[in-house]
Amino acid sequence: FERPKRGQGGRALCRSHSIADLRDRARARVPRMVFDFIDGGAGEELTLRRNARAFADVTFAPRVLRDVSVVETGRDMLGFAAELPLWLAPAGMTRAVHAHGEIGAARAAARAGVPYVLSTMASTSPEVLAAHAPDARRWFQLYLWRDRGFSREIVERARDAGFSALVLTVDVPVAGERLRDVRNGMTLPPALTRRTALNIARYPRWWFDMLTREPLGSAAVSRPGEALVDRVGRIFDPTATLRDLDWLREVWSGPIVVKGVGSVAGAVEVAERGVDALVVSNHGGRQLEHAPATLELVPAVRAAVGAGLPVFVDGGVRSGEHIAAAIAAGADAVGIGRAYLYGLAAGGERGVDRSLEILGSGLRRTMALLGAPRLDDLDATLLDPVPGCE
Ligand code: FNR
Repeated sequence: FERPKRGQGGRALCRSHSIADLRDRARARVPRMVFDFIDGGAGEELTLRRNARAFADVTFAPRVLRDVSVVETGRDMLGFAAELPLWLAPAGMTRAVHAHGEIGAARAAARAGVPYVLSTMASTSPEVLAAHAPDARRWFQLYLWRDRGFSREIVERARDAGFSALVLTVDVPVAGERLRDVRNGMTLPPALTRRTALNIARYPRWWFDMLTREPLGSAAVSRPGEALVDRVGRIFDPTATLRDLDWLREVWSGPIVVKGVGSVAGAVEVAERGVDALVVSNHGGRQLEHAPATLELVPAVRAAVGAGLPVFVDGGVRSGEHIAAAIAAGADAVGIGRAYLYGLAAGGERGVDRSLEILGSGLRRTMALLGAPRLDDLDATLLDPVPGCE
């Protein structure tokens, strides 16, 4: 791990030893409405807390007297030999979090040897990301737009820019109600009202930077001051069905991952459609309230779809222990959202490096302590009880 330089929040980053430390630092550094945009969830944040609680409730059943002198964390993900079993989950408007934005996150992902997923709602276009983070293994996240011509166009742009997999997010037929954003008057890009001006008054350079850069990604279709929920309603296609997966197959020849599976029945329906991987996800508790904790769904989803289909999970992953638990429960790999966004908010690109370093070293340590030196050694016998099972 390259030590962050002084003046870039370096010392504070080195003093951050957990994702919770980075979250504290993020909270102190970015405007409240930006912190809440990252940190918050839908409704009363019940599902957000459930995701966290499911991981907190994990009890390991470790093995002892195993040779753990060499711990291997490499995992093949859709044809890419990743160094850790994780990918950086898609996040909209990442430049609102830090000026380094999507490019900083993707560069950090490349250094750590893990895929980076660019959101359709990103504040950086596929072409610009590819030019500035050429070494990153790039996957593109798609929402189906009312305008199928635009969906097709953006998929083709992603293909031409060297994105190797398509992640179709299916849990946003309409926008979830994120009450913190509503209360903070959070719009994309943030509108300059008295309230938001007070909110960002301490961060003029950051603000100036974000507003004066040309919007490159889907921000090109944004309307200044439009609330997220309104934008989603205007652009996203609520008529999308399973049949659209067949349409997607015609416009994209590479791997297709469906993200946002929230039940066993839903997983089976999608798997039967012949996709390349599933992501058990509730959008980090940002969409449907009262959705189940994702970790608890993993064993049943794995049992229902069989061993052959890659199953990923995201939602609440904040440590190496969590990654080990998710894999032991039956996932092939995890997605991380806030865990890297806190790092980005705390210290830009170096902050994401720090997040990934914390997660990677935590996973290696946990595997050694569990007596499970290879990812394939992580199985349900190391969990007591298995999440979601009686
Ligand atoms: C998201 N997420 C998301 N997902 C997606 O498919 N497209 C998107 O544009 C976004 N945008 C987004 C913004 C922010 C600020 C967050 C926190 C999340 C969901 C994301 O990909 C992932 O599913 C969750 O973040 C996983 O939960 P954790 O790791 O954040 O707990």
